[in-house]
Amino acid sequence: MKILIIGATSAIAKATARLYAEQGQEFFLVARNEERLLALANDLKVHGAGSVEHRTLDLTDTRRHQQTLDQAFDVLEHIDLVFICHGSLPDQEACESNFELAQQEIHLNGLSVISLLTILASKLKTQGSGTIATITSVAGDRGRQSNFVYGSAKSMVSTYLQGLRGKLLPFNVHVTDIRPGLVDSPMTAQFRKGALWSAPELVAQKIVKAIAKKQHTVYTPGYWRIIMTMVCSIPEILFKRLKI
Ligand SMILES: NC(=O)c1ccc[n+]([C@@H]2O[C@H](COP(=O)([O-])OP(=O)(O)OC[C@H]3O[C@@H](n4cnc5c(N)ncnc54)[C@H](OP(=O)(O)O)[C@@H]3O)[C@@H](O)[C@H]2O)c1
Repeated sequence: MKILIIGATSAIAKATARLYAEQGQEFFLVARNEERLLALANDLKVHGAGSVEHRTLDLTDTRRHQQTLDQAFDVLEHIDLVFICHGSLPDQEACESNFELAQQEIHLNGLSVISLLTILASKLKTQGSGTIATITSVAGDRGRQSNFVYGSAKSMVSTYLQGLRGKLLPFNVHVTDIRPGLVDSPMTAQFRKGALWSAPELVAQKIVKAIAKKQHTVYTPGYWRIIMTMVCSIPEILFKRLKI
């Protein structure tokens, strides 16, 4: 299988890529940090990857998306799976009083992903096959006081993916929305970890299985589907008072 991973140096992406490397898959990796990309490329080769190419890109620079994706398709020739993983967890309070900051975060977590999806949809339609798997978040399921800037960017992507899934169905292109719960990664390094937290390696196992089964919306770990069903069922009159 030929796999394009965008935001490849994310902890969840790395753990997922490692599982695919063990299957001997071929990779084109995109991330912004050359040193971390090289380390990942070497790690994947050691773990059995068929081949690994990489390019650096600050993913907020949407003007360069077309060129980088063209390179990925030129190198791999045919792409079976695109896995989009980049993101950041904004300082919610800071964003509430600074629109520029909120805009940057929404650009990174929302619009940069939609820019990639726009180009990828066109390329995979032409190819007539492939899967696009995108990491969003359970945070997009309901706007909570503590992180609604991040949540709104993620829900924008989830809604976009729902529509895109139908558009790409006649072209034999599958779309998977991956919604992790709480994952112990550099993004969440500042939080104290409890029972609901998972390791990226566990989340990665679920992602690989879900992609193989062509699932539509994946909560990982699976109990987050139950948690979010409960969160979404709380009446707004109560929910607006919850400091969560
Ligand atoms: N951790 C969680 O609890 C959790 C929960 C739900 C959803 N998610 C989502 O899961 C995905 C992966 O996150 P993670 O937990 O694996 O965290 P992570 O290890 O911190 O990964 C975030 C990745 O985004 C990349 N990135 C940030 N800004 C970028 C930019 N401008 N250009 C290119 N790359 C950029 C980072 O690159 P560098 O390596 O260069 O910093 C890093 O590789 C994200 O979309 C996140 O929103 C995470």
